[in-house]
Amino acid sequence: MAKLVYAAITSLDGFIEDADGDFAWAAPDEEVHAFVNDLERPIGTYLYGRRMYDTMAFWETAGDDADDPGVGRDYAELWRAADKVVYSRTLAKATSARTRLERDFDPEAVRRLKAASAHDLSIGGPELAGQALAAGLVDECHLFVVPVVVGGGKPALPHGIRLSLELRDERRFRSGVVHLHYAVIPHPS
Ligand SMILES: NC(=O)c1ccc[n+]([C@@H]2O[C@H](COP(=O)([O-])OP(=O)(O)OC[C@H]3O[C@@H](n4cnc5c(N)ncnc54)[C@H](OP(=O)(O)O)[C@@H]3O)[C@@H](O)[C@H]2O)c1
Repeated sequence: MAKLVYAAITSLDGFIEDADGDFAWAAPDEEVHAFVNDLERPIGTYLYGRRMYDTMAFWETAGDDADDPGVGRDYAELWRAADKVVYSRTLAKATSARTRLERDFDPEAVRRLKAASAHDLSIGGPELAGQALAAGLVDECHLFVVPVVVGGGKPALPHGIRLSLELRDERRFRSGVVHLHYAVIPHPS
């Protein structure tokens, strides 16, 4: 069974964007970017909420500039090589290749996708990932905690759910960003 992974870059107070919708403070430097690339390298399918897809579709055409650091080119290549599923009730058409549009998030369909996949899957942003966490579909969480407090905005983790987690790994980067890798402990059924 393939794993479903949720990764997010968050402020110390737990927000992926601030109250103005800004997340420039979350932009990874080269060291963090290279680590994220390695984390995402085994991912065969990205499950995206439409808002995160709007941000990430940039990678369909990015990374080809000569002045682009190697990590950008590397990420663009691995993003384009993966399949994507976009969840949206409003998007008329996906703008990237290898991309399927879904009108509803069906937990059972995702369970079947995990069972049938040879490679791991990831999910983002937090509105969509929250539904997968609530449905018990997420196996691992990777939080990149940026040393900033933004006071409000969009939470990295949904309200109203409880999860038992096991810390599997942690790493400190030169920028002060800390990576926390958790396994989600399944509830006894
Ligand atoms: N911290 C960082 O490093 C970072 C990086 C990239 C982006 N971001 C931010 O994160 C934001 C994305 O996260 P988010 O939580 O706001 O949104 P999200 O989960 O990516 O997308 C939400 C959208 O997904 C669709 N959706 C959600 N549940 C659905 C369901 N059950 N069935 C069908 N469609 C469903 C809806 O699209 P429709 O409205 O089209 O129906 C909904 O508006 C970006 O906009 C950006 O601001 C942060």
